[in-house]
Amino acid sequence: MQQEKKYIPFEQIKITDRQWPDKTITKAPVWCSVDLRDGNQALVTPMGIPEKIRFFHTLVDCGFKEIEVGFPSASETEYEILRTLIEGGHIPDDVTVQVLVQAREELIRKTFEAVRGARNVIIHFYNSTSTLQRKIVFGKDMDGITDIAVQGARLIRQLTEEEVARSGMNIRYEYSPESFSGTEIDFSVAICEAVMQEMGSSKENPIILNLPSTVEMCTPNTYADQIEYFCRHIKNREAAIVSVHPHNDRGTGVACAELALLAGADRIEGTLFGNGERTGNMDIVTMAMNLFSHGIDPELDFSDMSAIRAGYETYTGMKVHERQPYAGDLVFTAFSGSHQDAISKGMTWRDTHKTDKWTVPYLPIDPKDIGRTYDGDVIRINSQSGKGGISYILKQNFGVVLPEAMREDVGYAIKQVSDEMHQ
Ligand code: KIV
Ligand code: ZN
Repeated sequence: MQQEKKYIPFEQIKITDRQWPDKTITKAPVWCSVDLRDGNQALVTPMGIPEKIRFFHTLVDCGFKEIEVGFPSASETEYEILRTLIEGGHIPDDVTVQVLVQAREELIRKTFEAVRGARNVIIHFYNSTSTLQRKIVFGKDMDGITDIAVQGARLIRQLTEEEVARSGMNIRYEYSPESFSGTEIDFSVAICEAVMQEMGSSKENPIILNLPSTVEMCTPNTYADQIEYFCRHIKNREAAIVSVHPHNDRGTGVACAELALLAGADRIEGTLFGNGERTGNMDIVTMAMNLFSHGIDPELDFSDMSAIRAGYETYTGMKVHERQPYAGDLVFTAFSGSHQDAISKGMTWRDTHKTDKWTVPYLPIDPKDIGRTYDGDVIRINSQSGKGGISYILKQNFGVVLPEAMREDVGYAIKQVSDEMHQ
């Protein structure tokens, strides 16, 4: 391979005295699900209206308060889905629906038609800002790209003022410099400042500035540097809610989101189980459960993980992998003898010490907290298993307590059966 001739190293951010490595996450971010938009646009067969409505309710039941429901100016189906949600009274009063639109006049007008009758709306507009896209796709310089964003912002503000006067709708704005991850950082700051200026953003009426790693191009520490640099340099920081939207091309979407929070982000956009374009978006289930496992309330409820997963698989036609953190079939399962032995001792220790704290080796959380059981989920036997696991299964599943002296012999006998059956 000739990779050193073909691929360019990612340029680091020049940031001095970075603060994020010394921070810890102490509370949940504002979450926004983009399952029904980014997730949907990445499916082999996109969801129809019934699936989207059911998925919307699943998201509401999980506790999402901001849900991007689609791109209503992009297709009739997307438009219809929004109309069905609004006219069918599916949107609770405390939930805001978000709609995506490019910063283009006819699309913005159509989007305002699509949201008529909704109570709380985020109009999320974007244009692409990266070096590559400016040169190859748009053939425009930085001023030309800024102009697209500012023109879009102006029209959105005007249509918002008209809509608010007519219906009192609660409208908020979100702007994404799409392909932020490949954009010169000072240009990202400048274009967002121009949009804020045009929108009249203030502390009382902040704009959401969403900084996507549209393509994940660097390690999570560098993404965190980008976010910290942005937060430190944007004028009037208090007039913005800084949001991140990490994709997962390098397999580190969740890590990017977590470090971005340390670096100053307030809000995270992602999807359940990481569905989305290419390798997907950051996986909100994993990140929320990571918070949970540190004793932080994620403000999302995944206690019935199997039902959420089953719904997701039905609506999207996607499968959750056996090793998917927290949700996969095998993620709490120990086959190896030494792991089984430690888990079994950990369970017994908790019982005898009557502790509330979760202190079982090899299990990052108590599987019961997300509706899993110990029987069948935790200890399973194959030819790698040892006497500890076998005794545990006999006791848990069959009520047979083996005397200490028999454990080794019974263990070998069962191992032999398993070896012969290649299991
Ligand atoms: O990944 C991305 O850049 C997006 C934007 C439209 C926010 O999905
Ligand atoms: Zn995206």
